[in-house]
Amino acid sequence: MEYEHVLVDRDGPVGVVTLNRPRVLNALSPALIVELSDALARFDADPEVRAVVLTGGPRVFAAGADIGDMSERSPVDQLQRDQTGRWGVITRFSKPLIAAVNGYALGGGCELAMMCDLIVAGDSARFGQPEIDLGIIPGAGGTQRWPRTVGKYVAMEVNLGGAPIAARRAHQLGLVNRVVPAEVTIDVAKALALRLAAKPPVAVRLAKEAVNRALETPLSEGLAAERQSFYFLFATEDQKEGMRAFLEKRRAQFRGR
Ligand code: COA
Repeated sequence: MEYEHVLVDRDGPVGVVTLNRPRVLNALSPALIVELSDALARFDADPEVRAVVLTGGPRVFAAGADIGDMSERSPVDQLQRDQTGRWGVITRFSKPLIAAVNGYALGGGCELAMMCDLIVAGDSARFGQPEIDLGIIPGAGGTQRWPRTVGKYVAMEVNLGGAPIAARRAHQLGLVNRVVPAEVTIDVAKALALRLAAKPPVAVRLAKEAVNRALETPLSEGLAAERQSFYFLFATEDQKEGMRAFLEKRRAQFRGR
């Protein structure tokens, strides 16, 4: 598939997807979402790729859903396009997915960043849900992921008030992992991805699944599922390799088996 709205690159085991509609601040049109989903599905299926960075480039992450495309649509149009349902590829992505955010991450752009596993923010980053000022509410997780991440009161402020919050406050609130100078956001995210790419892939996948499950299930269920994955990992070659390497005082070579 030839892409028009995203750029795809690979640097060793790290895939990079860059949203690429700079003239409209990477507004998330249906076509962009289809391409993004396709690019991520390919990286998910490629055993050479072990972690992925998702970015909007040096200036902006994404200023939300494409308002020009949405303004005159009916509920039935929206249902039939199921734009937000298409995010499933991203939320099901099995490898570490790191958002590298510079500038605005608004509306669907903010929701997209929150679908990732880690967020590296440039000091220029602004996270927000301005949908309220358009007469709507977030439709891809904004009202659900904010409270799970930062608690009810900041979530209310962001979703009802519409004003974005800056990178440093986002960091204090636990929404982002690191704040760095905007010039190095993507490099820092890639370096982080490279570190995660060196970890045993099956264990990484199950750890990601387990953490995500914590947000969806009661503790007892989450603990039971975690235990199953823990036992299962003793069937992997990487577990044997990891523990033998420790005992032999050498660096483990993980193969994802
Ligand atoms: N959908 C469609 N086009 C968008 C867009 C969006 N979500 N966000 C920005 N654009 C377009 C603008 O219309 C403008 O196009 P033009 O040059 O043809 O006029 C271009 O991107 C640049 O945006 P502009 O508003 O001129 O930049 P700014 O720096 O003054 O403001 C924002 C930046 C992000 C504050 C402002 O663009 C904005 O509020 N965007 C909408 C955010 C939003 O409500 N998102 C949720 C959508 S559900």
